[in-house]
Amino acid sequence: MQSAASHDLAQRISYHGKPQLISVDQFDRGSVDELLQLATRMEPIAQRRQVTRVLEGAVLGNLFFEASTRTRVSFGAAFCRLGGAVCDTTGFTFSSMAKGESIYDTSRVMSGYVDALVIRHPEKGSVAEFAQATNIPVINGGDGPGEHPSQALLDLYTIQKEFSRLCKPLDGADIAIVGDLKYGRTVHSLVKLLSLYRKLHFRLIAPGSLELPLELVELLREREHEVTLWQSPAEALQQADVIYTTRIQKERFVDEKMEAYPQEFQINAALVNSVCKKDCIIMHPLPRDARAGANDLATDLNHDPRLAIFRQTDNGIPVRMAIFAVLLGVEQLVFRDLKPASWRGPERVGPDDAAFYGIS
Ligand code: NCD
Repeated sequence: MQSAASHDLAQRISYHGKPQLISVDQFDRGSVDELLQLATRMEPIAQRRQVTRVLEGAVLGNLFFEASTRTRVSFGAAFCRLGGAVCDTTGFTFSSMAKGESIYDTSRVMSGYVDALVIRHPEKGSVAEFAQATNIPVINGGDGPGEHPSQALLDLYTIQKEFSRLCKPLDGADIAIVGDLKYGRTVHSLVKLLSLYRKLHFRLIAPGSLELPLELVELLREREHEVTLWQSPAEALQQADVIYTTRIQKERFVDEKMEAYPQEFQINAALVNSVCKKDCIIMHPLPRDARAGANDLATDLNHDPRLAIFRQTDNGIPVRMAIFAVLLGVEQLVFRDLKPASWRGPERVGPDDAAFYGIS
């Protein structure tokens, strides 16, 4: 038997009455906090200290029709850490969609094979279409320039965790978001999720044609947040508590011409050391474009403890475990039958993690 409270959360965030996660619009502040508290409880399993088999026998279908490393693998790993198994398919070329199969047929067929689906697709609204064609849990792993709800949840979880370490409240915080705000779906989902908090200052820093869609700016203002627009980072970053940087989404450009960010857009050690607060955090959904001239987030910050990007990616596992646990209705059962992990791993997973020792 599941407790009433657990069913409650799945119901409260349901999508057209089904346990599916398509948009962050499904959350209010209470439900998002509840989900992230569950993610905190998942940490010992995510950090490979404890093992659960709660999803033994369940199969996840990962359907990725666009490039992905961390979203696909971390959803898969999260499902496996809960004891389930994963079937993956990547790209259009090797799927029947290349033979003209519809979203409806693909979704219905997959539902007979697996117990949950994570889908990434290049068209906005497409994952909602998959969701309508099935009753099993569907999670939006990114629908074109639309949304990326699980990324926003792990971004918010990261901000909460880092702020709790820094003894800062999220209400009233100063959040700078830098880069391609027009096509960045992680930004679209994150600003909506953050708008559930109170009195934030959003500093939106975008080059020329890549500004945040107007309806999102209006939503932030309607919810009584301060929004300021900037065309270059230097001045804007001075008061920021969070600096959220993004890659140019060139693959989504329609008539925009920009090949790379202008040099002044690069967040690097020189800029951070000269203008940013000592207790800010620097985030990026990744991947960062490391090619010369891209001017994405620089690697010379890799030893700066303010750089939170790998703590952020690590947080993807407990958050995605919490999402699965809620959508599949096992969030109470998980903690009933934990065993210690039987294998030995390194104390810290990354060779440079020592720089961050004690703060994660
Ligand atoms: C992002 C995405 O796919 O939207 N990556 C991710 O899932 N962490 C960001 C990007 O591709 O730039």
